[in-house]
Amino acid sequence: MKKIIIAPSILSADFSNLAHDVKMLEQIGADWVHIDVMDGHFVPNITIGSGVVKSLRKITKLFFDAHLMITNPEKYWRDFKEAGADLIVFHQEILADKKKLAKEIKDSGVKAGVSIKPKTSVEEIEGLLPYVDLVLVMTVEPGFGGQSFMEDMVPKIKRLRKVIDEKKYNCLIEIDGGINSQTSKICLKAGADVLVSGSYIFSAKDPTEAIKLLSI
Ligand code: DX5
Ligand code: ZN
Repeated sequence: MKKIIIAPSILSADFSNLAHDVKMLEQIGADWVHIDVMDGHFVPNITIGSGVVKSLRKITKLFFDAHLMITNPEKYWRDFKEAGADLIVFHQEILADKKKLAKEIKDSGVKAGVSIKPKTSVEEIEGLLPYVDLVLVMTVEPGFGGQSFMEDMVPKIKRLRKVIDEKKYNCLIEIDGGINSQTSKICLKAGADVLVSGSYIFSAKDPTEAIKLLSI
């Protein structure tokens, strides 16, 4: 059986005590830390900058998955890389040359990913698949934690799984938005490799149990 990667989103953590919450993620067996970076332009919210990533890098060895919901990732991704991000995910819906961006990120020695918003199809990123390590499928409109999983995104996950397997691309499928112990099953069945989960994990009475339930 393949190992499912669990990437808790610190968007739902206590921002006054981030170090404590990230240490908690280590203890409950998280694989990655999902860091939601929002610029108040690409999405209607402002969250975490590279300075926060740099500080967190000092307290954990967990893999940092930086989800850049920003209009100009070509301008800022290096800051996140230098701050300690292991994977840089930009959005398909930005204007910059995505192939060039993916190549630059990978050439710098970190992993590159592309994310698609709910209205963006798999066909739109097919040409990019040979150049990225991961595709992040949004199952909510990006911007806020705590929203409900959009079940109509499931065919997209299945389609992506089929394309990646048929063409033998070395590319993980990550799902982000509304993941809990029920919706995780739907995503895993559809072919997901990585599950992001924010409010479900951080609001759980027993986060260790909550995280376990995501991958079984
Ligand atoms: C939304 C973010 C998500 C979000 C997930 O724009 O990209 O990572 O934090 O939070 P939940 O799991 O609460 O939907
Ligand atoms: Zn995210």
